[in-house]
Amino acid sequence: EENGKQNSTGQNGTSTNGTGTNGQQTLTTRQGHPVTDNQNIRTIGNRGPATMENYHFIEKISHFDRERIPERVVHARGAGAHGVFEAYGTVGGEPIAKYTRAKLFQQKGKETPVFVRFSTVGHGGHSPETLRDPRGFAVKFYTEDGNWDLVGNNLKIFFIRDAMKFPDLIHSQKPDPITHIQSGERIFDFICNTPEATHMATFLFSPWGIPANYRQMQGSGVNTYKWVNADGEAVLVKYHWEPLKQGIRNLTQAEAEAIQAKNFNHATQDLYEAIKKGDYPEWELCVQILSDDEHPELDFDPLDDTKLWPKEQFPFLPVGKMTLNRNPEDYFNEVEQSAFGTGVLVDGLDFSDDKMLQGRTFSYSDTQRYRVGPNYLQLPINAPKNQVITNQRGGQMSFKTDFAPSQNKHINYEPSTLNIIKEAPKAGKDYTPRYEANLVRQKIDRTNDFKQAGETYRNFEDWERDDLINNLVNTLATCDKRIQDKMIANFTLADEDYGRRVAEGLRKTAKSQDDKGPNGATSPAAGVKEAQEVSH
Ligand code: HEM
Repeated sequence: EENGKQNSTGQNGTSTNGTGTNGQQTLTTRQGHPVTDNQNIRTIGNRGPATMENYHFIEKISHFDRERIPERVVHARGAGAHGVFEAYGTVGGEPIAKYTRAKLFQQKGKETPVFVRFSTVGHGGHSPETLRDPRGFAVKFYTEDGNWDLVGNNLKIFFIRDAMKFPDLIHSQKPDPITHIQSGERIFDFICNTPEATHMATFLFSPWGIPANYRQMQGSGVNTYKWVNADGEAVLVKYHWEPLKQGIRNLTQAEAEAIQAKNFNHATQDLYEAIKKGDYPEWELCVQILSDDEHPELDFDPLDDTKLWPKEQFPFLPVGKMTLNRNPEDYFNEVEQSAFGTGVLVDGLDFSDDKMLQGRTFSYSDTQRYRVGPNYLQLPINAPKNQVITNQRGGQMSFKTDFAPSQNKHINYEPSTLNIIKEAPKAGKDYTPRYEANLVRQKIDRTNDFKQAGETYRNFEDWERDDLINNLVNTLATCDKRIQDKMIANFTLADEDYGRRVAEGLRKTAKSQDDKGPNGATSPAAGVKEAQEVSH
């Protein structure tokens, strides 16, 4: 009887799926059946047991039971927005074609649609956005030659330089596998035994480790890439996003705590509201360029992502501007299911031999085949906006095949005489680097783990250095003495004053704990006060 009523006229006497006289729309199941009762399951009698054939209810609940997919193993918390990238056509006063043939950069004013996802790294999907953590800055360019993903962070360097270490680094920063609580001791246990991480720790524990929001931060590709021109010649490049009108702003630990007490979604909210009211954030994309060789004259290896390429030596050259001007319509479809990867390059852009980049390039698409599914590239957010013609068909959740207008739809292989689908002509000479070396497992030669950490420490403003020392002392105070000693030694190698201030801060904290006796653990707030006294 109920079904009969549904199929003839809807609740307001409208056609089943149509618009009612008062502008209402009819709610339907995912099978398109109009829903006449969304409040009560079907039961035998008013108080009786439910029946098995409650199709609408079982569909509703079983879909709900599956509404989450595995969250990203890192960068789980994020916010996204759509926008546009506008090319300048030049780099450092020269036509950009001298360095890269990538089409999106060539003409001044050429626009490419983009989607950006910002994120924090360590904690889960709804964790506070005030935490000390690098911030992700991942950009998908939907170019005429297919997609280019520039998967970056706000900070310009990283903790490690070899992809082999990434799972260990992340395990040390994720919650303890037993208590499920993040532990400063576990973080510094890894860092003190990883001297190349001293530089990143210096940024991370300073205010640069808590950007004020996603709009007011920089972005960087971190790893070294290559550009290739029409003659097949390459240069090394690093990418940087510099915020334009909105500027850069970071928070002290105390400022972050004040925000967190009231709002743990402040960065997502800030981005969404700015775009909603038309205050579109903008970034300029800059590159640093080096010739494609080993650069023995430098005291660091240009393929080492724990190092900055000094700005004075290798200037930031603007190549275009990005504006974010549209919020997502559905968070899950667009932000959660978006999938970025360092392997996703277009013609004219290439990889370098940076060992982190090589490892990352395997990892991203691998995790996405699991996290989103093997057909993640069919989803609108991930699909390129140019025509896709592929012979890779099937697989879970496959729902479409793109055909060229007059192609033979029976042919899902290549080469073929029966089909018109052929390989593309080359856009320029191939870049073919030559290798001659033994196959080894080795660290790079120019490790130079501490010099730039010291420079970064000295380059900070006073308030940034003070906050850095406070934050380090507060966290290291919770660590085993052996970890403290190793960290002090590493900071001292970076800069004597740096090591001395951390050591003094720790001595004071230990003394105040002794004064209180074994049960009088200092509160974090007391620790901050102690360290501030030390630093002035
Ligand atoms: C996300 C691996 C280093 C930036 C991810 C994800 C994995 C991963 C598995 C989750 C991706 C997904 O579920 O879609 C690695 C490995 C690294 C590494 C193995 C080192 C060997 C880095 C570095 C950066 C970075 C150096 C900064 C340049 C990001 C960003 C995301 C991400 C921004 C989030 C992308 C998004 O918003 O969806 N990484 N990562 N990662 N990684 Fe890495």
